[in-house]
Amino acid sequence: MLAAFKIPVEVGFGRARLVSDVSQGDIFQPYKSPIMESTKITLTTYYQNSMTTIAETPAVVLITGALSGIGRATAIAFAKDGAHTVVSGRRDEEGQKLVAELRKLGAEAEYIRADVRQEKDVQNLVDQTVARFGRLDVAVNTAGTEGKPGPVTEQTAESYAATFDTNVLGTLLSLKHELRVMLAQKRGSIINVSSTFGRAGGAGASVYVASKHAVEGFTKAAALEVAGTGVRVNAVAPGATETGMLNRFTGNAANKAALTSGVPVKRAGEPDEIAQAILFLASDKASYITGASLAVDGGKLAG
Ligand SMILES: NC(=O)c1ccc[n+]([C@@H]2O[C@H](COP(=O)([O-])OP(=O)(O)OC[C@H]3O[C@@H](n4cnc5c(N)ncnc54)[C@H](OP(=O)(O)O)[C@@H]3O)[C@@H](O)[C@H]2O)c1
Repeated sequence: MLAAFKIPVEVGFGRARLVSDVSQGDIFQPYKSPIMESTKITLTTYYQNSMTTIAETPAVVLITGALSGIGRATAIAFAKDGAHTVVSGRRDEEGQKLVAELRKLGAEAEYIRADVRQEKDVQNLVDQTVARFGRLDVAVNTAGTEGKPGPVTEQTAESYAATFDTNVLGTLLSLKHELRVMLAQKRGSIINVSSTFGRAGGAGASVYVASKHAVEGFTKAAALEVAGTGVRVNAVAPGATETGMLNRFTGNAANKAALTSGVPVKRAGEPDEIAQAILFLASDKASYITGASLAVDGGKLAG
């Protein structure tokens, strides 16, 4: 047995983070966190007084609605951080293109088609992820729709269903199947993409506002149900963010400028600014955060 010594290992999301006394051949638990909790890192080689090589265990990340906007930026951010990334959506060609882009970043990546309104799709997405990568560490529920904005007096059962089926039923089905796996693993982190409209009203967006309040409610209730199991559930609440949804929602440049002028920092957010908050909530740096909603909104909710 060789003498124990300290190894400093500075790593990204999908890798170990530890400073520990180890001996050659040791198998040890590097970090007490929901994601890395039961990840065993095996010391494969070492050189005294120099950097040690360890076997890396990348996180397995699943993202719904990943083919555009915030979901796409999130997939790229996770891939850059070394995670195995499963992207899903409803457009197969776009999905395969994104997978090629993620693989160029050095990540292992797969596309799995899933309409989050369909339970069989969501179940298959989670099951195929586990079949491919062996587990599910992080799930990001991004799929969402602005529905049909307009005053309450113009809303219909159809416009309600068009919004709620994706934003609310889709979140429920995603949580249900992601938690099924994560509870069995006793680890995992789920991030639902809510909105500032999940925490405040917005004239002309009542059905969307109601649907995102439901996402906030699901986040809190699910977090409480699984608290203490090693699984955390949180939300990010983006403000106006430069995506296709913002353009569709505002309809023209003048409306968009009016909306962003009401943001304290006087601009819309970039998708990657939302993605970075998601990475934080997914990571072991957020190990004591569950049931929370993190506003990423240029100060909007502070006003
Ligand atoms: N942009 C903003 O200002 C803003 C602000 C607050 C919150 N958000 C939230 O952020 C999330 C991402 O939106 P985004 O801004 O990035 O807009 P986006 O580019 O339109 O992204 C929405 C994604 O969700 C997918 N999607 C919609 N319905 C789906 C379904 N039934 N099943 C699977 N995927 C579905 C869309 O795919 P298809 O192309 O197939 O429809 C699209 O890829 C949404 O939940 C949205 O509510 C956005």
